Amino acid sequence: MSAPSTPGGAGVAITARDLTKVYRKYLHKNQFTTLKSAIVSGSLIRDLSPSELFTALDHVSFDIPRGCTYGILGENGSGKSTTLKLLSGITKPSSGSLDVSGRVSALIELGAGFHPEISGRENVAINGVMLGVSRAEVMRRFDEIVEFAEMKDFIDAPVKTYSSGMYARLGFAVAIHVDPDILLIDEVLSVGDEAFTRKCLEKIGEFRRRGKTIVIVTHSLGLVEKMCDEALWLRKGKTMDSGDPKRVVDAYLSFVAAQENELLGKKTQIEVAQSEARGTSDAPEEKRRWGSGEMLLTDVRLKDEGGRTAHVFVPGDTLRIEITGEAKTPVLDFVFGLGIFTAGGTAVYGTNTHIEEYKSKRAEGVFSVMIEIQDLRLVEGSYLLDVAVHRKDGTPYDYHRGLYALRVRSRVKDVGVYRPHHKWTFSEALQIDEPPERHELELRPTDRVDRREGADSMETLHNDRASFRALGKSVVFTNGCFDILHAGHVSLLERASAEGDVLVVAINSDASVKRLKGESRPVISEAERAEALLALECVDRVLIYDEDTPLECIRALRPDVLVKGADWALDNIVGRDDVEKLGGRVVRVDLWPDRSTTGLIKKAESRAHAVPK
Ligand SMILES: Nc1ncnc2c1ncn2[C@@H]1O[C@H](COP(=O)(O)OP(=O)(O)OP(=O)(O)O)[C@@H](O)[C@H]1O
Ligand SMILES: [Mg+2]
Repeated sequence: MSAPSTPGGAGVAITARDLTKVYRKYLHKNQFTTLKSAIVSGSLIRDLSPSELFTALDHVSFDIPRGCTYGILGENGSGKSTTLKLLSGITKPSSGSLDVSGRVSALIELGAGFHPEISGRENVAINGVMLGVSRAEVMRRFDEIVEFAEMKDFIDAPVKTYSSGMYARLGFAVAIHVDPDILLIDEVLSVGDEAFTRKCLEKIGEFRRRGKTIVIVTHSLGLVEKMCDEALWLRKGKTMDSGDPKRVVDAYLSFVAAQENELLGKKTQIEVAQSEARGTSDAPEEKRRWGSGEMLLTDVRLKDEGGRTAHVFVPGDTLRIEITGEAKTPVLDFVFGLGIFTAGGTAVYGTNTHIEEYKSKRAEGVFSVMIEIQDLRLVEGSYLLDVAVHRKDGTPYDYHRGLYALRVRSRVKDVGVYRPHHKWTFSEALQIDEPPERHELELRPTDRVDRREGADSMETLHNDRASFRALGKSVVFTNGCFDILHAGHVSLLERASAEGDVLVVAINSDASVKRLKGESRPVISEAERAEALLALECVDRVLIYDEDTPLECIRALRPDVLVKGADWALDNIVGRDDVEKLGGRVVRVDLWPDRSTTGLIKKAESRAHAVPK
């Protein structure tokens, strides 16, 4: 995240503070609600009950430096277009403040600002003037505009006869030829064909080089990573994350993956429950489960390397399929089988214990089987798993068809089903740039990142943050040296953990403690301090930071609650602004009197000196 510059300062093109937009909700009982009828009924927004209002944007704050390309991303209905409409002045904020300095040109809704009955030529003139350029100036650039839009043959036709692509072309051509300082672009670009979209992106690139400010709304995450200097992720009108585009896109993707994980988990539960309700005996073709039932598979779980239930994976991950079952009476002939299919039904892989020459001897009572697939080599997509136990001759005891969903997500958009390990090499005659060094999406903590003993890396925690959010878990953050853990610390941490669901404790690294507290500190090494903290029931995650303040951690983690001891004056609490800006709380808890590390060390030192040598 770039350092927030002074609102409205020379370096800032757009400053938004607590920007909020509330709309009237269209409820069934008042389906004929128009502005006119609202005015007639005299019931404008201020008279409406909260249930009749919808907050499309909720206390969103950001600074967009001059010359910055700023990406806004988020699910449908998250408030992206509303933000652009506010920035362009098409609509006014319900509350909060907005400072936009410079001439603005906006491409928000297809044909917005175009009059359908009149020709493209006349619309260009009107639009140009509306964007603050003199008619003469528009006419001087008219040929350029028409040429850029490639609309020579249609420019004199009424705009209502245009295709949506032609609308986008003319709208974009006008927007960029009025030489704005700030260009606002909504998702409309995507209606243009491949060639035109590329042309627009080149033009945007040119604008960037000319130091123009660009705010672009897009669902193309690759575009955000490639073209934007900063990004804002909105969800239900609220800021979920902002800052480095790659990090924000990762967080968004992890969040979506975590949601998918939960959704697929629920879907699987429902389908398994339904299949159980239907029982196993009927004709197989329309059933998802059938078999004679001497052996039953009572539970099938997909798990990740860490043993957590998971349905979303990335290529290279380890997938574990844990099967639990029961054989009420002894069974001698049994084979366990697994089948992986694409959502479209294409068989991806299938095997069973008979094919792999395991010889069944006897099964009786409750049993469990685990299949571990290391280094999953599937491309991005949805897959379904068949799991079964049957006789050698194939007669099923219990066959589960496509009841378990698996989703593979990847940064690489290769096609097909199987992703073999591979490497490109190019002869000297070919000049080609290597792709950027990037790990696959981080859906869960893995061994990819070097981690200090017991503590998490910022990257891991940051990715988990999205999962916490997806699960509606609030994150509490506190920090300190925690050198020689004492009762005062424990009481502070217990009260901190009561403020939310996940308590993250950030501790100064040994080097940072030495800088802050002197060469003789810390008494206890960072690894041992982390271990001691993690042994506490109330502590969920520990982070070690090298900086002298936890500001970077707080900015990356965006906790819902920041807890500090009451010995900290509110104004001195590092990260307070950042937490409150994102709607979080700062809580100060009273300290347990006469319990301080320094005090303890002094006591220990004085005792050491008191003992006769
Ligand atoms: N004029 C309006 N009156 C009432 N509700 C509105 C109005 N405009 C937008 N909304 C609501 O505000 C929310 C945000 O809409 P917005 O157009 O900003 O979403 P978006 O992020 O651009 O979505 P998409 O990706 O689908 O374009 C939506 O729930 C939408 O229904
Ligand atoms: Mg939109």
